[in-house]
Amino acid sequence: MAVTIAPSILSADPANLQSELERIASADWAHVDVMDGHFVPNLTWGLPVVERLAAVSPVPLDCHLMIDDPDRWAPGYAEAGAAGVTVHAEAVRAPVRLARDLRAAGARAGIAVSPSTPVEPLVDLLGEFDMVLVMTVEPGFGGQGFLDVCLPKVRRLRRAVSAAGLQVQVQVDGGVSASTIERCAEAGADVFVAGSAVYGAEDAAAAIADLRRLASAAC
Ligand code: DX5
Ligand code: ZN
Repeated sequence: MAVTIAPSILSADPANLQSELERIASADWAHVDVMDGHFVPNLTWGLPVVERLAAVSPVPLDCHLMIDDPDRWAPGYAEAGAAGVTVHAEAVRAPVRLARDLRAAGARAGIAVSPSTPVEPLVDLLGEFDMVLVMTVEPGFGGQGFLDVCLPKVRRLRRAVSAAGLQVQVQVDGGVSASTIERCAEAGADVFVAGSAVYGAEDAAAAIADLRRLASAAC
């Protein structure tokens, strides 16, 4: 399985986002956490910022929307230039319609599940999505400890994707680092978000290469 590394700019310096994106030019995607202060108790950036980031980023943007009412807001992120837009299963009202709208706008469609949300209700919908994001921390903040209790869900999801003969990617997000990435890959994840593990490193490119090597060996 090809490994995709997506550093999260939540741990970047918000006063210098363009140069912070250039630091991760060797990554596959830049993960952009959009938080609204309602769906999660934290607030980050919105559409106008994402539109500018898409224009200057050396890598495609992977937008993770931790917001209420994604049915209303998510298509705007696709139109703003995000390569992928992921919405939360707990917040979306019409996931199939929204996924089709995102794809029609030229973006990859993703659906995310928080730690206590099961993946089983998504199994029959997998063909509508390009990616399922399994949160490995409670959404809202960077730098939290990895939740091993979420790994069986990654395993069941990968099994369901393979059984359906689909190409859906399985993303893990939260607490992913050199010490946890191998067990994520072994469980079946192929897209790895890492915020503090990349931006907290002296040499971001070396941290990305290290994560890629570990995940590829464990896939
Ligand atoms: C948390 C965000 C993550 C966060 C991960 O709600 O979705 O993308 O940036 O940060 P780390 O890798 O530090 O756990
Ligand atoms: Zn995220």
